Amino acid sequence: MWHRLTVNLADLLFSVSEAMDLSDSTLVDHQLRTAFVSSEIARAAQLDYELVERLFIAALLHDIGALSPEEKVSAHVFEDSCPEPHCQRGARLFLEAFWLRPSAPIVGWHHTPMAVHRDAGRSLSDPDVLGAQIVFLADHLERAIQRDSFILDQAPMLRRCMRDLAGANVHHDVVALFEAVAVREDFWLALVSKNIDRQMRERNLLRSIDNDYETARSVASVLKDMTDFRSRFTATHSSGVAACARGIGEVLNFSGAELQQLDIAGLLHDVGKLVVPNTILCKPTSLDAHEYAVIQQHPFYTYQILSRVRGFEQIAAWAGFHHERLDGSGYCNHLKRHDLDLGAKIVAIADIATAIAEPRPYRGGSAQKTVLTELRTMAANGQLERQIVEALADCYDPIMTRTIDAQAESAVRYAECYATIV
Ligand SMILES: [Fe+2]
Ligand SMILES: [Fe+2]
Ligand SMILES: [Fe+2]
Repeated sequence: MWHRLTVNLADLLFSVSEAMDLSDSTLVDHQLRTAFVSSEIARAAQLDYELVERLFIAALLHDIGALSPEEKVSAHVFEDSCPEPHCQRGARLFLEAFWLRPSAPIVGWHHTPMAVHRDAGRSLSDPDVLGAQIVFLADHLERAIQRDSFILDQAPMLRRCMRDLAGANVHHDVVALFEAVAVREDFWLALVSKNIDRQMRERNLLRSIDNDYETARSVASVLKDMTDFRSRFTATHSSGVAACARGIGEVLNFSGAELQQLDIAGLLHDVGKLVVPNTILCKPTSLDAHEYAVIQQHPFYTYQILSRVRGFEQIAAWAGFHHERLDGSGYCNHLKRHDLDLGAKIVAIADIATAIAEPRPYRGGSAQKTVLTELRTMAANGQLERQIVEALADCYDPIMTRTIDAQAESAVRYAECYATIV
C-alpha cells in the first residue's frame, strides 16, 4: 500500500542551520542568531509575509556556500577574508530547490555593501536588496558579539558598530530599523538565550510546513551538495549511495514510499560530516587515531540532524546507522543485526559499494569483481547481510549503471559550481 511521505521542511531547515554552526566553537548559533536579528528587523519594517519567509530562509542558511568548517570560520572573521565565493556558491546551491530558489538573491548578496548596489543601479525598493541588506547587518552584528561577556554591557558598543555601517555598507533606513529594535532589552536577551532555537521554531515564520517527497527531495539534494561538494573525491558520493540503495530496495520489493525514504537516506547519510574539518576529511594520507575519531563522529550527527525532522524518523535511522555492522563492530552505536532495520543495512551496503567503486585521493576506483569480493568477505565475517549483498550482485549492472548516471549528474553540477565560481 502506498503511503505518502510527508516531511516538515521547516524542521529540516532549522536542523541543518543548527548543524552548520556545530563545527567550531566560534560559530555556535551564528546562523540562528542572524536569522533571529533579521526577523526582528523584518517585523519592525512590517514587511509582508512572503518577503519575511524568503528573508528568514536565506538568513537561516546564509553561509551554506562556505562548505568547510575552515571556510565558515574565515567568513566569520572581519579582516582578510574574501566573502564573495561563499555568497555566490550559496546562491547557486539555493537555485537548485524550488522551495529555496526565491531566497537565492538574498544569500548571494549578503556581503554586498549598499554602495555596490547603488553603483549597479539597485535601490532599497528592490525586495531582494532590502532582504540582503538586513542579513548583511544581522550577520555583522552577530559576528561582533563577544560570547564571553554580558550582552547588555555590550549593547551600546554593538549599536555604535552598526551605526558605523550606515551609508556605504548598510542603507540608513535599515540601520534605523535596527535602532528601533535595539532599544529593547528583551531583543538582546532573547538573542543570546540558550533556547533560541525553540523560540525561533515557535514563531512559525515558515508557512510551508508539510511537504511531499518531491519537495523534500529537492531540499535534501541541496543539503547533499553542501555535504559532498567539499572535495572532488566526495562530490558525487551521496548521489551514488542514494541510487544504489534505491536499486537494491527495488530488487527487495520495497514499497514506493520506502524507496523514497531510501533515496533521501542515501542523499543525506553523510550530512553529519558538516562537523569534520577539510584538513581531516580531504587528507590524502592515512589518518591518525585522533583524526579517525573526528571523522567517526559523522553518523552520530547525521542522526542528530535528521531525527529532529518530523516525517524523517525512519530516514534518520536508515541514514544515521550506515556505519553500524551486524556483529556490533561498527560505530557510533555498536548496534547489532536485530537492532538494525533492513533499510539501514541496505544504506550501509550501498555506501560501501559506492565508496569502493569510486576513486579516492589515495587510490583509483574498483571494478565489479573487487566490489563484490569485498562485500562478500564482510558478509562472511558477519558484518553485512548476505541476502542484501547477493541482491546487489544479482542486479549489479543495472544498479551500478544507475549509480554511475546519478553520480555523473552531480559531477556536472559540481563543475558548474566550482568552475564558474571559484
Ligand atoms: Fe555569516
Ligand atoms: Fe559515512
Ligand atoms: Fe558515505
